[in-house]
Amino acid sequence: MPKGRTQSNLPELERTLIVGVQIAGQPALLSLDDSLEELSVLARTAGLEVVGGTSQQLASPNPKTLIGKGKVEEVKALADELDVSVILFDDELSPRHQRELEKVFGEKRRVVDRTALILDIFAQHASTHEGALQVELAQYEYRLPRLTRAWTHLARQAGGGGGRSGSGGVGLRGPGETQLEVDRREIGRKITKLKDELGKVSARRGRYRAQRKRARIPIIALVGYTNAGKSTLLNALAGAEVYVADQLFATLDPTTRKVDLPGGREALFTDTVGFIQKLPTTLIEAFKATLEEIQEADLLLHVVDVTHPNVHEQAEAVLTTLEDIDADHIPVLTVLNKIDRLDNPAAAQEALQDFEGAVAVSALRSQGLDELLDAVNRKLYETLTPVEVLLPYQEGALIALFHEQGKVDRIEHTRHGVHIQGRIPGRLLARYSPFAASGIPAEAE
Ligand code: GTP
Repeated sequence: MPKGRTQSNLPELERTLIVGVQIAGQPALLSLDDSLEELSVLARTAGLEVVGGTSQQLASPNPKTLIGKGKVEEVKALADELDVSVILFDDELSPRHQRELEKVFGEKRRVVDRTALILDIFAQHASTHEGALQVELAQYEYRLPRLTRAWTHLARQAGGGGGRSGSGGVGLRGPGETQLEVDRREIGRKITKLKDELGKVSARRGRYRAQRKRARIPIIALVGYTNAGKSTLLNALAGAEVYVADQLFATLDPTTRKVDLPGGREALFTDTVGFIQKLPTTLIEAFKATLEEIQEADLLLHVVDVTHPNVHEQAEAVLTTLEDIDADHIPVLTVLNKIDRLDNPAAAQEALQDFEGAVAVSALRSQGLDELLDAVNRKLYETLTPVEVLLPYQEGALIALFHEQGKVDRIEHTRHGVHIQGRIPGRLLARYSPFAASGIPAEAE
């Protein structure tokens, strides 16, 4: 039997207690129970075994320990009773909360919050250089304000970097500097270096994107809550071998595939990182380069797991994240996925009524894909901007581009040039605005 397959060789899962908090007046997308359920799935993905949970409703957070004093004692007793080694909070702990809770729960137990957990999962799944750099940066930025003496020799390295940092800086203590200050300085240096490296990667990606744009193919980004089925859908559409796993955040790096649309046009479909409620801001920041793929798309396919009990909340979380990353101006086509798991066809119809203009598919069974591609075609047409131009005959390239990228509704060859009425993608408006006959939108001029 291969190594690691026998029961005894399996890594022992860390016993974990989860703690949720609901603060009066603070809007929450999911109910406390649902959020804790999601946290348990995240914990399992990260290799933790949730053996118990508790929660507290609070009028306001305790500035020292987030949860109240009595609750801290209760958690401590429960942690002893269940013999856990990790206490996992559903919300991001401030550096002060983290410090105070670590003091109470002792050195042997780790206090982890949702953000650290997501960062950990991301670190496990980052498969490309860029993904690894992004996660490493997010991890250091998260850790910097939380450094305590427990971190002294930077023994726990940020994920993905493969020990890039080592403990080299530790011996270089300046006059009067404490170990903690040395570590902070060291991390600050790493952050600068990572940002620098990511800047270069981002520039390279920008050039690649510019090339794709010149190739004049519409770009369609798949977005959705984690595990909604984006990679499976991309596989089904393109016959591509994109990594699919029943795991949260299996996809960290954008993968792009060319797909033929009905009517002979082609489009580039790109898979992106999954979203989740309470997505850590450090991560959004660090994943800017990946998220730029979304911002520059002509159309977003919002993939929704229609069978999930929190389908509406998940969809809302995705739309909110799109706003956060300034991508809410891009047209969206909603794709209700996993219809093969619905009990009856009526359920799919009901769901379709809840999501305007949506298409129902099963990515796994390749059902509804033709309808989806038709809808993509229609939506791409709708996204075009109506224009009317008079193009002199020497502007042959622009005339050809109109035919390729746009939709010609009326064309007339006149003495002064070609008079076209039709629609073009918004990103090309600037090139046609000097030739406006009339009807070019004001913002293009
Ligand atoms: P992230 O990487 O977390 O963003 O996930 P993703 O949205 O890319 O999801 P992925 O394609 O990895 O699919 C997640 C799980 O859902 C896998 O177990 C898939 O097999 C399953 N799945 C995807 N589409 C369907 C479907 O149409 N029907 C069913 N029954 N399962 C599906």
